[in-house]
Amino acid sequence: MSPVVQNRTHKLEILSVISEVIESGDYILGPTVAAFEREFAEFCNMPFAIGVNSGTDALTLALIALGVGVGDEVITVSHTALATVAGIVASGATPVCIDIDLDSYTMSPLCLKAVISPKTKAIVVVHLYGQTADMDAILEIARENNIYVVEDCAQATGARYKGSKVGSLGIIGCFSFYPTKNLGAIGDGGMVVTRDEKIAERVHRIRQYGWSNDRKTEYIGLNSRLDEMQAAILIKKLPKLDEWNARRLEIANIYRLALISCPIFLPIERPEANHVYHLFVIRTNKRNSLRKFLLENGVMTGIHYPQPVHYHGGYSRLIKVQETQLVNTEKIVDEILSLPMYPELTNENVNYITSLIQNFFSESQESLDFAK
Ligand SMILES: Cc1ncc(COP(=O)(O)O)c(C=O)c1O
Repeated sequence: MSPVVQNRTHKLEILSVISEVIESGDYILGPTVAAFEREFAEFCNMPFAIGVNSGTDALTLALIALGVGVGDEVITVSHTALATVAGIVASGATPVCIDIDLDSYTMSPLCLKAVISPKTKAIVVVHLYGQTADMDAILEIARENNIYVVEDCAQATGARYKGSKVGSLGIIGCFSFYPTKNLGAIGDGGMVVTRDEKIAERVHRIRQYGWSNDRKTEYIGLNSRLDEMQAAILIKKLPKLDEWNARRLEIANIYRLALISCPIFLPIERPEANHVYHLFVIRTNKRNSLRKFLLENGVMTGIHYPQPVHYHGGYSRLIKVQETQLVNTEKIVDEILSLPMYPELTNENVNYITSLIQNFFSESQESLDFAK
């Protein structure tokens, strides 16, 4: 949310690197992209990182590089950004959507086993809101069934699971640098990370028509290049990311302390994960009236997401949904509310928001039963 404050704060540095790119004459896939790829790989403790045009493309290219396509099934969740499923659909594969756990809002490993079929080639696991999914359980099921795990890290850049950075847990990690993300460009951008050299080489080719370094082609590709300006901005921002993520955690803790006695569900942190709070999502059965009240008092909130992906008209016919229905996915859709969350929020800003929420609930006693 609200990337403008950060970009204003660092405007002079950003303008200076943009000016360097203009003078360099290298505008696409040049030395700055290569340098950013090296630094991002190091940040993830991975040997290979390949810059692409967006997080959605990162997912598509990852699946194509794994040989996943038409006739194959890829398991994911319906409670995610539409982009997760759009990325799968673009590879030609059929998304199979399963339910989430209520505590973490991430993929339910229990539901996973039930939908694995001979057609299943990959799982796209989403580290939603800045927290990892239950990776041990998911990786074990994947290993037993010989299925690839691709991580959708778009909302979790810098997050860790048992000490390992997201992106390093599955076969491929996919990142988005959409402006609102924890590490945001001023335009589109994405990254694929992997420790498999052959996969890295394939993604490298697929991102530009299928070309090898000497412009020969053995297979087809797309045009999904990262440009030098975005790379220059991102390379400036990357060293600040851990500090920004730490500030997000501080803000989350202020919210948590102040809201603990309100009749709402607060985010639950996995003990084995480091949450990077891309979003701070609460749940209440008074979601719409709370949202309206906050807006009337100058506080913009969000809903991530107002509709499960399998209800989206353009996609629903392309998606397979678990027969048992997505009970948790359906349940939370009218309850979730994303409170303002970005590192530049001041403590005063957060205190103002929490005092509004406290006032709101002190005037609506009847919802006290909800969080019991
Ligand atoms: C969970 C998730 N996956 C994938 C994406 C796709 O990223 P992009 O917008 O860079 O294509 C996003 C961002 O919107 C996202 O939040």
